[in-house]
Formats: sequence, C-alpha cells, structure tokens
Amino acid sequence: MACWRWTETERIIRKALTEEKRVSTKTSAADLVTETDHLVEDLIISELRERFPSHRFIAEEAAASGAKCVLTHSPTWIIDPIDGTCNFVHRFPTVAVSIGFAVRQELEFGVIYHCTEERLYTGRRGRGAFCNGQRLRVSGETEMESHHLAQAGLELMASDLSKALVLTEIGPKRDPATLKLFLSNMERLLHAKAHGVRVIGSSTLALCHLASGAADAYYQFGLHCWDLAAATVIIREAGGIVIDTSGGPLDLMACRVVAASTREMAMLIAQALQTINYGRDDEK
Ligand code: IPD
Repeated sequence: MACWRWTETERIIRKALTEEKRVSTKTSAADLVTETDHLVEDLIISELRERFPSHRFIAEEAAASGAKCVLTHSPTWIIDPIDGTCNFVHRFPTVAVSIGFAVRQELEFGVIYHCTEERLYTGRRGRGAFCNGQRLRVSGETEMESHHLAQAGLELMASDLSKALVLTEIGPKRDPATLKLFLSNMERLLHAKAHGVRVIGSSTLALCHLASGAADAYYQFGLHCWDLAAATVIIREAGGIVIDTSGGPLDLMACRVVAASTREMAMLIAQALQTINYGRDDEK
C-alpha cells in the first residue's frame, strides 16, 4: 500500500475540508456523510478492484447504502474513506482514510492516513507497525492498584487506572438511555483515577495514538468494522491488545472494542464498562 495514491486522496480531502459541503445524515442526526466520503470510497475501490479483481470489499458508504458486511474467507478490503466525517464537516482537522485487509477472516495489514498531518500509519501481521517509517510502540503504562470504588453511588470493584490516558468516541446514538450509559462509563474510568478521557472525533486516529504510545487505552461502543480493521493490526504490531468489551477475543463485526497497551489494562476497562448495544455490522 506504500504505492497507494495517497497524494490524490489527500488532495481531494484537504481541498474539500475548507469548502462548503453537501451533508446528509445516516443512522442518526450525528452520523454524517458528504459527497467526498462517496468520492474517496469510489476512488479507492475502483483502483483496488482494477488490481485485484477477485477480491471482496466492505466499505462504509456502500454498507450505508445497503451492501451486506459479511467477512468471508476470501481476501477482503475493509475501507473507511473518511473517518471523522463530523470533524471533516466542521473543518476540524482530524480526519483519516483507513484501509484494512483480511484473508481467511484474519487481519493481515492496515493503513491509516492522517490527511492533514501527512502521517501514514501502517501495520502488517508479523512485520511491525510504523508511522512515516518510524517504528510504533504502545506505552508501558501498567501501574495500578486494586481497591474498592464506592463513590457517587457506584458499587463497582475496580482497579486503579492511575496515570492512564484513555481515549473513547461517543458513537452515533444520542437517545437519553445511550447517553446516560456513555457518560456513566466515562465516570467509572475517571473514578478509577484515569488521568483523562479524550474524545477526538476519529476512532481510527485515536487508535493510532494508542499504537504510538501517546495514550494508554481506548474503548468504544458503536464503531464499525471499517473503523477497526486497519487499526487493529497497527495496535497489535505495536505491542498492544485489542479485545471485545466482554473481555473475550475481538469480534470485528460486534461494533464494540477495548484496546490497551497491556492485557491487564484492557481487562480492567472491559470489567468497568456497561454495554451499549449497537447490534452487529453483519446483521444490518
Ligand atoms: C465515526 C468516527 C466517530 C466514532 C464513530 C465512527 P465516520 O466514523 O470515527 O468518531 O464515534 O463510531 O463510526 O462515520 O466518521 O467514518
């Protein structure tokens, strides 16, 4: 993918970032799409299809238009043409293109391009993870002590995430019950003494910060396989852990994730979280 036409993709996105956009909504008023999402997705798929005619594709905007998201054993490209579309609409310069590749349902490699900072994150199974050629390593933040947390009415056995910087994203649902759970999950991590919880508006770039050692953990309900595929390879190759919020193995189609620099930290976060149900990508 090093030979991918990033410059053209970047040119299209950077130019459109500063212009007026036609914005539509998808699953909620906060789930946005623009003509540039479609343009970039079509460009990526047509180029890849020309080179690899037998391969399959799972792509965000095709899925929004009704294409099935089923990961088979065939070689499959998993594409998010603009991750951080809400940022993109507001000209907030944290947007990325994410392309993952799986064979026999195993993630083989991923590339994520931070369009405004010209940072290319890559990861290939067994071959390491890099940003613009520099090796990526997750942070070594593991410090924690077990203690009982019973503040603010929370009867929660939690271990201390002391000193951890945690990232999350809000997800598209904004009904009162979902927001209550989202805020309560954040509160639980803050009670467990996380240094901070950050929301940057792009799940793929947040996951790249984890892979770079700039944050210690990430969790989210409501992201999709195209948000996770490339980033999962990059984090694993940087030495990190990516699991399901149940504490079990990652299920790429389950719309939920915990990722962290260590398994202990991932498990602590998984134990603290209350589930927000977003259904599955392969059942929509
Ligand atoms: C979304 C962003 C957002 C996250 C959503 C994602 P999109 O991707 O990463 O931060 O909260 O869950 O689906 O729609 O901008 O490609």
